[in-house]
Amino acid sequence: MVNSTGASPPYDTLLVRGSLIDGTGHSAYGADIAIKGDRIAAIGELRGARAAEEIDVQGKCLAPGFIDTHTHDDQACMSAATMEPKISQGVTTVVVGNCGVSLAPLDHPSEVPEPINLLGELKDFSYRDFSSYFDAVDAARPGTNVVALVGHSSLRVAAMPDLGRPATQGELDSMMNMLDEAMRAGAGGLSTGVFYPPGRAADSGEVIPLVRKAGEHGGIYATRMRNEHDAVLDSMREAFEAAREGGAPLLISHHKCAGARNRGRSRETLALVDSVRETQDVSLDLYPYDAGSSVLDLDLLEDGMRVLITWSIPHPSASGKYLHDIAREWGCSEREAGRALKPAGACYFFISEEDVRRIIQHPAAMIGSDGLPMDRHPHPRLWGTFPRVIRRYAMEHGLFSVEEAIRKMTSLPAHRFGLHDRGVLAVGNYADLVIFDPVTVADRATYENPTEAAQGIDHVFVNGCLSWSEMQGLPTGYGRLLRRGTIESG
Ligand code: CU
Repeated sequence: MVNSTGASPPYDTLLVRGSLIDGTGHSAYGADIAIKGDRIAAIGELRGARAAEEIDVQGKCLAPGFIDTHTHDDQACMSAATMEPKISQGVTTVVVGNCGVSLAPLDHPSEVPEPINLLGELKDFSYRDFSSYFDAVDAARPGTNVVALVGHSSLRVAAMPDLGRPATQGELDSMMNMLDEAMRAGAGGLSTGVFYPPGRAADSGEVIPLVRKAGEHGGIYATRMRNEHDAVLDSMREAFEAAREGGAPLLISHHKCAGARNRGRSRETLALVDSVRETQDVSLDLYPYDAGSSVLDLDLLEDGMRVLITWSIPHPSASGKYLHDIAREWGCSEREAGRALKPAGACYFFISEEDVRRIIQHPAAMIGSDGLPMDRHPHPRLWGTFPRVIRRYAMEHGLFSVEEAIRKMTSLPAHRFGLHDRGVLAVGNYADLVIFDPVTVADRATYENPTEAAQGIDHVFVNGCLSWSEMQGLPTGYGRLLRRGTIESG
């Protein structure tokens, strides 16, 4: 309501009678919140205070906006800037540049090798350096805030004519310069994807100096490890070594034990994480599903494993169909069908629910959707990850409290990425907020219908501005590029 005296009210927005889940893991409590500009101005008993707008949120939970630690929204945050798949889940900040893949510094991104193409159609997006990429993201006014990592594979593509070998000293020097520019511009750290062909030939002599450069600037080292199947422990040791030698905090991306033979092995991997955490800063993230998704890689096919096609350039109509059905229809083997479908993307059902449940309970486990926004028939994690953790893993399975689920999505990642003024409901912090209905909140996206928006996410505020309302849909454009180590203007 507008203040009738004509004087400007002390607050812009007043959210009254909410159940506050502050992001730290502490129990929910009843209070009101006032927003002024882009910040939380007051928390407590505020009824009667004057505000330009007041929303009664009785019966609803009020939490810090969720931080999606692992995304490939590098291009989507400009070309699909409303960020509807994310904001509709309550996500207010996404971390891009994962798995070694970032949109900068790439001059001719439409000619890049797989899997950089998982970012989508890139011919209209060319950024020689991170400063120009950051300016472009800010100018696009995305619906969520954006934190960007520097992709090692993208550095390689920019610096090396031959990706099939470790970098020469000259090539490494050139990658170091590009990384230095990116970190000075405010990138959050370095990511590698040494599993994927563009990064695979890199050895520790190439990776460790880059990790050190990111660490010198206060950045983190995130890695899509070399192997998440039989050799997962060896790959973890490789990642620990690079982070230790490079002196940067480690983030193991979308931790899993993939493949039928490795079912249950999270017992071993988490024991290793725990022992290393005594001397090293290690965290991990995961998505709450039993299928992974990426480009279609015939090396990942296993007898009896279901594979869902998410997109195919030569056969667009195959999107949403299972590979075994396509093979039967075509009268060929799955491998032959896969070859004909490429370039393509897929969901691989190769993760056991038992491992998802064990990993998600780990105190250092954060939530990262790994959603692929440009896929024609995407993995449902793109639209469903965050409400699914609350509904399925906290409320239905009781693996942890709702407060702990929120901590995994807010203060834990905020701390990991150095976002000191976000991730916790506290006076003076940025007003990135989500208001959800604890009775109805749930994911609705499925493998069959993957683009169904979540339910029960009533309102989302980004930098103090209403950015999603379940009843009204999308205004938008209040997100910012969050530069590491700088105080954002506000
Ligand atoms: Cu990824």
